[in-house]
Amino acid sequence: AESVPEKSKRSALNQLTRTLLRNYDCGVRPVHNWTSLTTVYIDLILQSVLDDGKTQSITTSILYRQVWTDEFLVWDPEEFDGINEISLSSDAIWIPDVIVTEVNEGKSPQIPYVYVNSSGSVRNYRPMQVVLACSLEMYAFPFDKQNCSLTFRSWLHSVTEIDLALWRSAEAIANDKREFMNDGEWELLSIPSSYWQIHQDDTDYAHIQFNVLIRRRPLLYVVGLLIPSIFLMLVDITSFYLPLNSGTRIVFKVSILLGYTVFRVNITEELPSTAVRTPLIVFFVVCMALLMLSLIKSMLVVKLLYHNEKELEPSLEEDLLSLNEIQDEPSRLDWLLQELASLRLALSQDDKESSAQADWLDLCSKLDRFLFRFYLLVVVLYTSTLLLLWASWSFA
Ligand SMILES: *[C@@H]1O[C@H](CO)[C@@H](O)[C@H](O)[C@H]1NC(C)=O
Ligand SMILES: *[C@@H]1O[C@H](CO)[C@@H](O)[C@H](O)[C@H]1NC(C)=O
Ligand SMILES: *[C@@H]1O[C@H](CO)[C@@H](O)[C@H](O)[C@H]1NC(C)=O
Repeated sequence: AESVPEKSKRSALNQLTRTLLRNYDCGVRPVHNWTSLTTVYIDLILQSVLDDGKTQSITTSILYRQVWTDEFLVWDPEEFDGINEISLSSDAIWIPDVIVTEVNEGKSPQIPYVYVNSSGSVRNYRPMQVVLACSLEMYAFPFDKQNCSLTFRSWLHSVTEIDLALWRSAEAIANDKREFMNDGEWELLSIPSSYWQIHQDDTDYAHIQFNVLIRRRPLLYVVGLLIPSIFLMLVDITSFYLPLNSGTRIVFKVSILLGYTVFRVNITEELPSTAVRTPLIVFFVVCMALLMLSLIKSMLVVKLLYHNEKELEPSLEEDLLSLNEIQDEPSRLDWLLQELASLRLALSQDDKESSAQADWLDLCSKLDRFLFRFYLLVVVLYTSTLLLLWASWSFA
């Protein structure tokens, strides 16, 4: 007997929901006069940018908010225990078909409720994970900026039925970085937005496009790729000061080249596949070419150096042969004389030989120095061009 009054005394919340939804048709655009249009106010807050290094698709998680007025969801708070705002099931009421056009929405959770206040304003907030359409201009990698667009429109309704507008001012949306997780690879520059209408089949459709402008933080790549490369080049340049005739120089340069090859194999795995035709990759290839050039140059100079010594050796043997011939003479005095003469000859020969060798070494060193200067010039020119280019990109 006590349950009957309980039942009639439903909670105000329950009563309000029933009253609102009693004759509600969720398939009908909620306007009294069909000629009036429904304006959907949209808003966007960017939370994070995740990019997949391999495919270079940029995924963002955003907070998407849309607000519109439902003329049938209006009540007087006085009648319902002062309730000014309730949440309703989003399946039970009309929801605009505003979607993101260029991307497939990824793993966006379904939020089953919307908030409605007593003047009929419906707030539909939901988190979204979307894959952005970016130009992916990689030329300046790793100093690149990306301009990714995100366009919202009503898929079916023309602008005479559903119009779009920004909820906050365009500047407020553009500069809202409060929610952005700023410690990733990307830095958020701004999110300018624009509104326009597309004419299709005699009907106009409203669009709002957000351009997400982000810039890559190059530090990771500079520290991980550029600086080791530059160090190896510096070590290679310094190795020109190793003595030319000791033979260690070539061994040293070969080890540097080997080290660089290992380094290159490692970095190709780290770089995005779309970065293949960028100045950075060209930089690595040119570095390798320069290392090879310096190795070949050293080899040439060393070859020249030893080529000369080999030429000298046969003449030495001839001398020894001639000495042997002289030794065959029997007379003791003659033998002594000849011995002295040969000694003098050998000494002068030695002198000539060593002075010729010294001359040759000198010549080779001069050639070495000349080639080294030429090499240094090429390296400096190349490096300064590249650094200027990168500096202009990173400060642009
Ligand atoms: C609907 O609105 C239009 C223009 O605002 C008006 O001319 C028309 O009379 C209205 N229709 C009804 C049924 O109220
Ligand atoms: C309902 O919400 C809208 C926007 O959120 C606001 O402009 C309006 O004043 C609110 N109405 C009431 C009665 O609170
Ligand atoms: C971004 O791209 C859009 C076109 O998709 C263009 O209108 C806009 O000017 C670009 N913004 C910048 C800063 O390049």
